[in-house]
Amino acid sequence: MKVVTIIGARPQFIKASVISRLAKSDPTFDDLIVHTGQHYDANMSDIFFEELGIPKPKYNLEVGSGLHGAQTAKMLQGIEEVLMKEKPDAVLVYGDTNSTVSGALAASKLHIPIAHVEAGLRSFNRKMPEEINRIATDHISDILFAPTQNAMNLLRKEGLADKSFLSGDIMYDSVLYYQQTAFKKYQSTALPFEEYYLATIHRQENTDDVQKLQQLFTAFSNLDKPVLMPLHPRTRKLIENINYSKNILIIEPVGYLELLHLLSHSAKVLTDSGGLQKEAFFLSKPCITLRDETEWVETLDNGWNYVLGCKINEILEKAKLPIPTAKNDYFGDGNAGKRIIEYLNGHKS
Ligand code: UD1
Ligand code: UDP
Repeated sequence: MKVVTIIGARPQFIKASVISRLAKSDPTFDDLIVHTGQHYDANMSDIFFEELGIPKPKYNLEVGSGLHGAQTAKMLQGIEEVLMKEKPDAVLVYGDTNSTVSGALAASKLHIPIAHVEAGLRSFNRKMPEEINRIATDHISDILFAPTQNAMNLLRKEGLADKSFLSGDIMYDSVLYYQQTAFKKYQSTALPFEEYYLATIHRQENTDDVQKLQQLFTAFSNLDKPVLMPLHPRTRKLIENINYSKNILIIEPVGYLELLHLLSHSAKVLTDSGGLQKEAFFLSKPCITLRDETEWVETLDNGWNYVLGCKINEILEKAKLPIPTAKNDYFGDGNAGKRIIEYLNGHKS
């Protein structure tokens, strides 16, 4: 089974690392990696390949940043050339970025079967670039690996049940696998326990609106604990016009293992990240989602996650709530990667 994996953005490196690791011990599964170059800073890309042992991409298309249309077009052109040369049995895409939809579109025009990992997620907000990417990708893919039963239900409503398979959540596999590694690597680091909030902001809906961004920084400035913020370069470029207090400690983006370490010691999480909302839930850290909706509705159960947008007073109020006690399992058993490989091996046409 020759699979071309298309990745390009930080969360995709983490998701793809699960499959790459399993593929190393499966002689029937050949995993060839194409990096679109969507993320390119060392701390947004290389660090994940090094830390997580992801094989060096056979191709790096080096598309870099740009407007949605221009960036997607460059990816599409580069991926098409690679696929025509490599002639894989299937193309594997992850999540909902521009790299995802480009990979799927290029493969569909060449009639190469497409498998989409993290299928069936919906925010029902079509102003989000990610929502367009995931709807388009799901509808042109051939195999849809859904992380949760809710995602399966949403795919069924869109007439995609026949192509859907409940794999479990691949990011849950990853957290379970790397938790101990992160603990060992950072155990001698003195970091206070539950005395700070961990925060990230990078989504277009927050960064493109200066007023919203200012509201978030104002809320963080007034929280009852310091806020540690590994900041995405998109947001870093915008904060010179933002006022905030010394309660916020901004640092460079960190590697995945360090992120797990910072998360496991934090009191709570404030984020607009999809991945971090889930990781907070996996590690039993309450989360405040800095968006107006979430795709990961399972995390809302029992008050583990509150979707508050940029409402300052509500953020300050909900941050003070005690940690919920009850939690349900929604994200599988940590074997999503294994199921995905087995399924693909069994469906070679
Ligand atoms: C992208 C995804 C988003 C995902 C996020 C993960 C799309 C439409 N968006 O958003 O769904 O949550 O990745 O992190 O695909 N930049 C750098 N260095 C880098 C990468 C980016 O400086 O290595 C800066 C550039 O100024 C760039 C901006 O960040 O214009 C945005 O990067 P881009 O990849 O377009 O979108 P993300 O916000 O990263
Ligand atoms: N992450 C990381 N370092 C950071 C911030 C996030 O390793 O400085 C990880 C985080 O643990 C999660 C993934 O990156 O696994 C989420 O990526 P991001 O928030 O960029 O994208 P999203 O999930 O919103 O698409």
